[in-house]
Amino acid sequence: MFKFVAMTLFAASLTIAPAASALADEPVIIKFSHVVSDDTPKGKGARLFQKLVQERLAGKVKVEVYPNSTLYGDEDELDALIRNDVQMLAPSLSKFDQYTKQLEVFDMPFLFDDMEAVKRFQRRDKSRELLGSMASHGIYGLAYWNNGMKQLTATRELRKPDDAKNLAFRIQASNLLDEQFKQIGAKAVKLPFNQSYKALKSGQVQGTENTWSNLYSQKINTVQPYITESNHGVLAYMLITNSKFWNSLPFAIRSQLEQISDEVTQVVNKEAESINAKDRENIVNSGSSKLISLTAAERAAWRKTMAPLLKSYEAKIGADVLHAAQLVNRR
Ligand code: LMR
Repeated sequence: MFKFVAMTLFAASLTIAPAASALADEPVIIKFSHVVSDDTPKGKGARLFQKLVQERLAGKVKVEVYPNSTLYGDEDELDALIRNDVQMLAPSLSKFDQYTKQLEVFDMPFLFDDMEAVKRFQRRDKSRELLGSMASHGIYGLAYWNNGMKQLTATRELRKPDDAKNLAFRIQASNLLDEQFKQIGAKAVKLPFNQSYKALKSGQVQGTENTWSNLYSQKINTVQPYITESNHGVLAYMLITNSKFWNSLPFAIRSQLEQISDEVTQVVNKEAESINAKDRENIVNSGSSKLISLTAAERAAWRKTMAPLLKSYEAKIGADVLHAAQLVNRR
């Protein structure tokens, strides 16, 4: 019994340590870990957050940014946040499967026509509510950060869904994305982001899906001779923190950090599209891969093949969430 009480007290003292250190004039350290490079939408967002905190809260809060999975990768970053070993992450919404099924709405192929539709959904109440969907796990959602629409890459030309048959695709750890590739007769292999390039180069997988900025910054185009401009799904993030850590911060500091987070969110979501457009250009100019544009009829065939997922995931995601998302396209 004594041991249990002592351990509980020890654990509690760990969770309030950051606020206590603020009172003792030591800056609160926020470790912000992520898996992409500094010149992607998320990478730039993390650096801007660090810069604004340095400008406005110097001596009180210090942000340390760890890009490119240098501190934690996809396999362990969420556990690290729950343990309060890192205080901020911005994982892709596809990586929260084990905590909530509702966020799978963002993985549904062909649900959002473009990033404007995604942004409209993120402003709606249903989407705002999902920021709190992992509260019971001690995860507090601050904001949505966008990357962009995903493209399909492969060792062969993909024009029709059938062209992908029997290829293995690297995917993020999402069951819906796994089903998406099964729907077209392909295989999906869940791999951490930092293993994507190696898996493609070695031939372990023959294709993948990602945004222009992630493809270019990881040099995926150098090992994928074909890129289909499919814009079939979205890659977006949730900026998250450890709830206990966040609530232990003095109110004035927490409010300023939330203000900074709002400002950075505006910038990330405004610039993500131009960063992706520039990296599309970079890939075209590199001459590494043949770009395949789909005709309206070809795109409709992909959409039709994946359409059954809407029905089969309705109960998991929640009909209310799914229907709210279906209303944001200009059709
Ligand atoms: C991926 O694993 O492909 C992405 O989620 C990486 C990222 O964070 O953009």
